Amino acid sequence: TVPVFHTVSELRSWRSDQRKQGKTVGLVPTMGALHNGHLTLVSAAQQSCDTTVVSIFVNPAQFAPHEDLDQYPRTLPQDIQKIAETQANCVVFAPLVSEMYPNGITTDRSKQKGTFVEVLGLSEMLEGGSRPHFFRGVATVVSKLFHIVMPEMAFFGQKDVQQCCVIKNLVADLLFPIKLNIVPTVRDPVDGLALSSRNVYLTEEQRAKAPALYRGLCAAQKLYSQGITGREELIGAVAAEAAQENLDIEYICLSSPDTLEELDSVPSSGAILSSAWRMGKTRLIDNVLIGFE
Ligand code: PAJ
Repeated sequence: TVPVFHTVSELRSWRSDQRKQGKTVGLVPTMGALHNGHLTLVSAAQQSCDTTVVSIFVNPAQFAPHEDLDQYPRTLPQDIQKIAETQANCVVFAPLVSEMYPNGITTDRSKQKGTFVEVLGLSEMLEGGSRPHFFRGVATVVSKLFHIVMPEMAFFGQKDVQQCCVIKNLVADLLFPIKLNIVPTVRDPVDGLALSSRNVYLTEEQRAKAPALYRGLCAAQKLYSQGITGREELIGAVAAEAAQENLDIEYICLSSPDTLEELDSVPSSGAILSSAWRMGKTRLIDNVLIGFE
């Protein structure tokens, strides 16, 4: 069975025991509703660390008032079961909101008080354009988790590429002694749709159309392999697939993997092609790396 801790003090005393025993600890931060993407992060952690903390916390600070905080799927018993089935050496940290935000938290940014962490220069573009509150909430909660768990390593998914960039900078700027591991995106084995907890919101018809974006991203990768490096052509390939299914595109961007600045063409150091789209009320994202070996 997997031990489950709900308070910061329980987790801290478990952590200090681990240290006394000389065990290394990995952290996999999640919002629960676990799928194979999350479980792949758990396996990666299991391979490099003696024990793994899987945190499950739907973080109010990264939702805007109009977003899906209340509807976000919460499936703690099933999540614990899935973690147990991996047979990895894990504990679950599933804190209450009051543990993580002792001074309270509201999604209404104008009413927020207290201490937040902002990674400036990387939080405003792409996802930040549509979700201006988002990376402040992520950087804040991840900083709190790092302080509580003090892991040697932390594991994040490539699916949320901008989140990875923000966390990399957070670790460097706040001098966290933590090694980051980025795990490749886990996809539906049949149609390539990136696994996401939000996929459960899709109707059957929306689910059938959703893989068009990934087909577009792959078409762009193929163009690149044929020698095409220009922004217009690569983005055009994605847009063409999306248009076939009438998808409501929010953005398609070719950007630098380090600074996320938009690029005119793929440099020898590689680029990220990323996209966000809406299906009814659901917002989905995906990305591929272009020009990396
Ligand atoms: P969540 O969406 O639950 O994702 C938790 C972790 O799983 C993230 O690092 C995410 O990139 C990774 N992940 C999700 N789907 C994946 C997939 N298909 N393949 C590989 N990795 C995948 O991201 C968050 O939660 C939150 O913002 C969090 C970091 C926990 C802070 O609240």
